[in-house]
Amino acid sequence: NIGELTTNVGTPDDPCGTWRDAAVLVEGERIAWVGSAADARTLRLGRDTGFGAHEMRPKAADPPQTAQSGHLEVVDAGGRAVIPGFVDSHTHLVFAGDRADEFEARMTGTPYAAGGIRRTVAATRDASDDALRRRLRAFVDELHAQGTTTFEIKTGYGLTVADEERLARLAAEVTNEVTFLGAHVVPQEYAERRDDYVELVCGAMLRACAPHSRWVDVFCEKGAFTPEESRRVLAAGIAHGLEARVHGNQLGPGEGVRLAVAMDAASVDHCTYLDDADVAALAASDTVATLLPGVEFSTRQPYPDARRLLDAGVTVAIASDCNPGSSFTSSMPLMIALAVREMGMTPAEAVWAATAGGARALRRDDVGAIAPGLRADLVLLDAPTRTHLAYRPGVPLVERVWKDGAAL
Ligand code: NIG
Ligand code: FE
Repeated sequence: NIGELTTNVGTPDDPCGTWRDAAVLVEGERIAWVGSAADARTLRLGRDTGFGAHEMRPKAADPPQTAQSGHLEVVDAGGRAVIPGFVDSHTHLVFAGDRADEFEARMTGTPYAAGGIRRTVAATRDASDDALRRRLRAFVDELHAQGTTTFEIKTGYGLTVADEERLARLAAEVTNEVTFLGAHVVPQEYAERRDDYVELVCGAMLRACAPHSRWVDVFCEKGAFTPEESRRVLAAGIAHGLEARVHGNQLGPGEGVRLAVAMDAASVDHCTYLDDADVAALAASDTVATLLPGVEFSTRQPYPDARRLLDAGVTVAIASDCNPGSSFTSSMPLMIALAVREMGMTPAEAVWAATAGGARALRRDDVGAIAPGLRADLVLLDAPTRTHLAYRPGVPLVERVWKDGAAL
C-alpha cells in the first residue's frame, strides 16, 4: 500500500497527480498499471503468486495481463510515499580534482568567479581515462542512492579536441543524455585568440564530440562567451544534429535567456538574474527554466525567484549542477529543500520540478512521471508524504530506488 503516490499525471489543481492508498504494477522495464491498493488486491486474487511490486493505472482501465513468467515480486510500501525517480537535467560529473579551497575562501567573502573552471580543466587533462571513469562511476552510485534515475552530464573540463572527446565518450558510458560543452570557458592557451577557440569548438571539437552527445550547451556569461559567440556555438551544434541548452543569467543580467528562447533551446539553466522581458520570453516559449539552487547555496549568492517564474506560467525544473566549483552536491532532495525554503516554491512544485520538470528540460516523455508505458523509475521514501523531502532537510529519506523496473 502506497500511502501517497506522486504520478505527475496531474490536473491544474494537483500537478503532482496525487493518489492515496495506491499501487503500481511493473512489468519488465515499464509501468504496466496504476490504481488503488484495493483494486490491486482484487487483481491479486486472479494471480498465482500475488501482485506486483507497485501497481497502477488510471481508474477505468482493464486489469493488466499477468506476466507470462508468473513470477511477481510484491513490495509493500507500508503506507509510505512513492515518487518518480529524480531527473537531474544538469551535471558536470566527468572531472578530476577538487576546489574546496575556493569554497572556503567564498565563505569568508571571496566572490565566485568562473575562472576556477580552468583549475579543474588542468586536473582533468592530467587524469587517465580510468581515473575519470572510476570517479564518474562513484558519482553515478551517489546519484542512484539519492533517488536520481535519469541524469545529464556535460563535458567542459577538457577544452581540447582530444580531451572533450574523451569526456563525452566516458559520459556516454553512463547516460544517453550527454552534452557537449566545449564552450565552457576559453582555455588559457587561447586567451589571446578567443575567436580561434570558438572556431575550434564549432569545428573539429564538435565533430569529435557529436557522435557521443545529444546536446550542445554554452556558458553565455561575462567572463565566458558573448551572446554572439554563444549563438555561433549553438547554431553549429544544431547544424550537426544536436539539440540546444544554455547556461545563462547566472552571475548577472544578460542575453542568455533570450538567446536560448530564440534558438528553441530545451532549457536555459541558472536564471538567477532575470528582467521582465526574460520572464515573458520564457513564458511564451517551450524553453524550460532550470534553477540550480546548489549554486547559490555554495557561492552565497541570491537565489533565483522561482515564484515569479511559476506565476508567469514558465515551466520550471530544478537540478543539482553537480560540479567541483559552484555546486559540489548531487542531492536532489537538497535541491527540493532549497527550492522550497529559498525560492518560493511549494513542496509539490519542487518535487514536480525535480522529476517531471527535469524530464521536460531533457525533452523526455518516458521518465519523470508514473503512468502505464513509462519507464519504471520509482523512489520509495521512508516518509508518509513527498513534503517530507523539504520538511526534513538533510535526512536521507530515500529508502529504495528502482530504475527500469530493477531495484538499485
Ligand atoms: O554551471 N556556470 C558554469 N559552469 C558551472 C561551474 C563550473 C565550475 O565552477 O567548475 C556551473 O555553475
Ligand atoms: Fe553548469
